[in-house]
Amino acid sequence: MQSRSRPTAEVLGELELLREEDPEVHGKRLFGLVYPTGDAELEALVHDAYERFLFANALNPLRFPALARIEKEVIAMAGDLVHRAPTELHGGTMTSGGTESILMSMLVSRERARARGIEHPQILAPLSAHPAYAKAAHYFDMDYVAVPLDSGYRADVAAAQGLVTENTCVIVASAYTYPHGVMDPVVELAALAAENGIGCHVDACIGGFVLPFMEMLGHPVPPWDFRVEGVTEISMDVHKYGYVPKGASVILHRDDDWIWHQTFFYDKWGAGLYATPAIAGARSGAPTVAAWAVMQHLGLDGYKALVADLCATVARVRTGIGAIGGLQIVGEPIGPLLALRSEEVDLYAVADVMDEWGWHLNRNTDPYGLHLMISPAHRDVVDELLTDLADAMSHHGPSKGKPARYA
Ligand SMILES: Cc1ncc(COP(=O)(O)O)c(C=O)c1O
Repeated sequence: MQSRSRPTAEVLGELELLREEDPEVHGKRLFGLVYPTGDAELEALVHDAYERFLFANALNPLRFPALARIEKEVIAMAGDLVHRAPTELHGGTMTSGGTESILMSMLVSRERARARGIEHPQILAPLSAHPAYAKAAHYFDMDYVAVPLDSGYRADVAAAQGLVTENTCVIVASAYTYPHGVMDPVVELAALAAENGIGCHVDACIGGFVLPFMEMLGHPVPPWDFRVEGVTEISMDVHKYGYVPKGASVILHRDDDWIWHQTFFYDKWGAGLYATPAIAGARSGAPTVAAWAVMQHLGLDGYKALVADLCATVARVRTGIGAIGGLQIVGEPIGPLLALRSEEVDLYAVADVMDEWGWHLNRNTDPYGLHLMISPAHRDVVDELLTDLADAMSHHGPSKGKPARYA
């Protein structure tokens, strides 16, 4: 840190310059990481809600009872969306994001397994599962076993069956997957988990605020939530398609009691009982309050309208991609996430050209290709995107060898 104080205008001026190096989050050219709606009123609400609780600390619910109540209401609203039967504790907690929700869920499964005398609990997760499951195995000293995928890039149930051992403590299914946007066979995987007396975690981090509204709108959505017997836990991120800034996710357990396995208690340090339900200690109240505010403002009708609009945008993108020679959509994606492949063209070379033209498409490794995470605001750029993509498909040089980087 420099020794002299700097005027606020100077500091903000520098931040403004720094921000120019990063992609414009409202710019509609970024596919993934941010989820713009293009709804200025919604964004203004987030800013206002943030400001009111920015410095509130969600660590101590006794000191911040209103914040604690708001958090419970977010968890209850999320639980309703995924058909969790209402209970007093609402079966869940908020966390900083999908990764922390998944970590907490895997910790619960480990603790439950250890209570049954299993020394080396195993996570059984499809190859398409988010890296947070492998991270949980790494952090919590668990074993990680990957389930191969079928030809549609969904978990192969027969293979999963063959991989269950007495150490398996949880089976993971995604609704839907990040790499290909497809639904894992949740009913079958949950049944397999139930048969073996273990948990089934459904990762709805990206699908949790899309699939319920697609179903309400009459789209065919295979069963995936707590209505499926054997599904014991669901993670769903408000900070993705719930449209709040980063820092808001929910982990839900079917059984209220499971929360206690993720809660840490300590009172041997001379400052009273310390108890936290997730990894963070002190944490801002702002993401929780923004989640509550957005959910209250949009309501089911607002989310349905956004998802209807999103589905219309995805349909336009899919039709346009179908019309570009040599480009195929991978598997059968259910929602706004599309993986693209090509037999004829090096798609990393196409991505290089798109990068030069100011688009930020992601690169997939398996299958080798492109990855598009579509948000409602992309409605305005569909034609431009498809024109540029078609152009890049026919006018590109060799790939610059830029690797796929998720994080
Ligand atoms: C399916 C899925 N699960 C989990 C996560 C992890 O979420 P986060 O990045 O909020 O930790 C992601 C992130 O994209 C995801 O797509």
